[in-house]
Amino acid sequence: MTTATTGRSAADRVTGTAHTRVEGRDKVTGAARYAAEIPFAELAHGWLVLSTVARGRVRALDTDTVLAMPGVLTVLTHHNAPRVDTDFVGMLGVPPDPGTALFQHDRVPHRGWPVALVVADTPEQAREAAETLVVHYDEEPHDVAFSAGREAEAYPVDGHMPAVMEKGDLDRELAASAVVVDAEYTTPEEHHNPMEPHAATARWEGGRLEVVDSNQGTHWVAGDLAKLFSLDPGTVRVRSEHVGGGFGSKGVRAHQVAAVMAATVLHRPVRVVMTRRQMFSLAGYRSPTAQRVRLGADPDGRLRALEHRSLNQTSTVHEFVEPSAATGRSMYAADAHHTVSRLVRLDVPTPTWMRAPGEAPGSFALESALDELAEKCGVDPIDLRLRNEPAVGPVSGLPFAGRNLVACFREGARRFGWAERDPRPGVRREGRWLLGTGTAAASFPAMAMPSTASVTAEADGTFTIRINAADIGTGARTALTLIAADALDVPTDRVLVRIGDSDLGPAMVAGGSAGTRSWAWAVMAAAEELRRGLAPGADIPPQGITVRSDTTEAVGALAQKERHSFGAQFAEVAVDPATGEVRVRRMLGVFAAGRIVNPLTARNQLVGGMIWGLSMALHEEAVREPASGGVYGADLAGYHVAAHADVPHVEADWVDDPDPDDPVGIKGIGEVGTVGAAAAIANAVWHATGVRHRDLPIRPDRIL
Ligand code: MOS
Repeated sequence: MTTATTGRSAADRVTGTAHTRVEGRDKVTGAARYAAEIPFAELAHGWLVLSTVARGRVRALDTDTVLAMPGVLTVLTHHNAPRVDTDFVGMLGVPPDPGTALFQHDRVPHRGWPVALVVADTPEQAREAAETLVVHYDEEPHDVAFSAGREAEAYPVDGHMPAVMEKGDLDRELAASAVVVDAEYTTPEEHHNPMEPHAATARWEGGRLEVVDSNQGTHWVAGDLAKLFSLDPGTVRVRSEHVGGGFGSKGVRAHQVAAVMAATVLHRPVRVVMTRRQMFSLAGYRSPTAQRVRLGADPDGRLRALEHRSLNQTSTVHEFVEPSAATGRSMYAADAHHTVSRLVRLDVPTPTWMRAPGEAPGSFALESALDELAEKCGVDPIDLRLRNEPAVGPVSGLPFAGRNLVACFREGARRFGWAERDPRPGVRREGRWLLGTGTAAASFPAMAMPSTASVTAEADGTFTIRINAADIGTGARTALTLIAADALDVPTDRVLVRIGDSDLGPAMVAGGSAGTRSWAWAVMAAAEELRRGLAPGADIPPQGITVRSDTTEAVGALAQKERHSFGAQFAEVAVDPATGEVRVRRMLGVFAAGRIVNPLTARNQLVGGMIWGLSMALHEEAVREPASGGVYGADLAGYHVAAHADVPHVEADWVDDPDPDDPVGIKGIGEVGTVGAAAAIANAVWHATGVRHRDLPIRPDRIL
């Protein structure tokens, strides 16, 4: 059999054209199987038992009663669980969350901490026994009260991004400013609720540990599991073919560790699934934030001083920084910049990354403060931002790898009809509704991380791409199909992309808005090399011809620049001052986010991010009960997310913005869509009512 990789014209290129998901049919017909649905012979089921106290020690567990219950195979506790090693730095450059050190000691650092795993033949038996297990605690007083006034310590983000960055003389510039905004903003605890809860099945097979999981990177999870259990990395295989959402929570967490422990003890496959309620203490969450922003400006709105101080909570066992103050470091020129991230340690679960960690709450504060400054200066909010556009990184001094924020505002303003806006607040009425419009800027760092890929020219004329990508709903599999088809110059139906298996080799996780970009780079490199070496009409042996790539050197050589995706967010709201109801009527986001690979799925992602911002502005709020230390109504009935009826006409589009240093021109779209969306809505609520809302969510009782 012979093959050819040429024969299409430039007009046939598919990158940049709309393409439905290659696995779309499998997903809508149910043929696509998710982690908890994949059958295993002899499967046992583990059910986690979580602490009912917020601080203390486990004194005793009445396991004997439970072991006598039908179907129960074992109960793992700190008395009998295998030991794990947590003294390492994982693939993402940070130590593992202490929540993965399951059953290693008797201490309880927060309510909802796993204290036992009951394993039984069926999930029902495991659950029944888990709910029967009596655990005796030595309870200690706990403290879960987060507030702006808490004593705090500065801490570097993920252990490396500086906690404090200073440029210029803040006090002097503030004193010299004709106009000063000094305001405090808060955002609440927000929880991960991907449609598919976390689930893992572990088994030993032929001397290898195999884990079928739902995660954002199997290389990451496999590597951390190998380290936790002191295994040769080559003996651990993690697969994660379809993922029903991730957003930062689907890394190494208690469920995989519990499943591996039980499979090791029982010598049979064990599945552990988190319930929706358990996710509120096991999946990680976004910390509440208290942020103070001080802006000093000349009368025309030109910034002299930008100060942003952010506080978030973490657990007593791990430092997690929500880097909200870092967002201002790249956004606006000012003579003096001062940004600080601080932590307060409480008896709560450790927070984690959640879509646009830092930028999502940080942009609410900063972009609201900019709107307040525009009001005080009597300058249009868009003009104010344009006046403070930096030529280079405001703190770093580095050049930008493309900064098309101005183009986003110009295009957005035109399409939204911004020019017709009456700047006065509280003057537009429609029956019982007060109407207002608002805007905000968005940005998110654009990174590329090392990845490996292989491309095989098969004897039947097709091509198989192997890359350990994760498709968490982004459409990554489809995007990589388009990129490979163009790099190989073949139609998409001759390309098969295999992802989600740690045996495929190291690759970036689906995170940091850098998945598709990092993977595309590796796929391009392998495909181009294959094409160069493959003469048209060449004979392909039965095993095919395979070329591998590793982009470690290429991405390492990426020029040091301020590299971000940007966007301009617009919202129109209607507020009923009698009931306090806020309805978002329309949203428009225009983004400069690098080359868009697949407009269909890209639009989905950006619109999804904007809806998340709407949800953040008006609905999402987990309230910690002081007495129990847990979250009130920890489920999707008690934790409100924007539902269909809350979501109006949402439109996302983009301007041309290819990254000049990327082989495809990609920057990343995963997170920028949510940045600034909440601020645009809050600014619109001010425009409608004349009242500033600095605490999210903007609930009806806060309007009244
Ligand atoms: Mo995202 S918070 O990088 O999964």
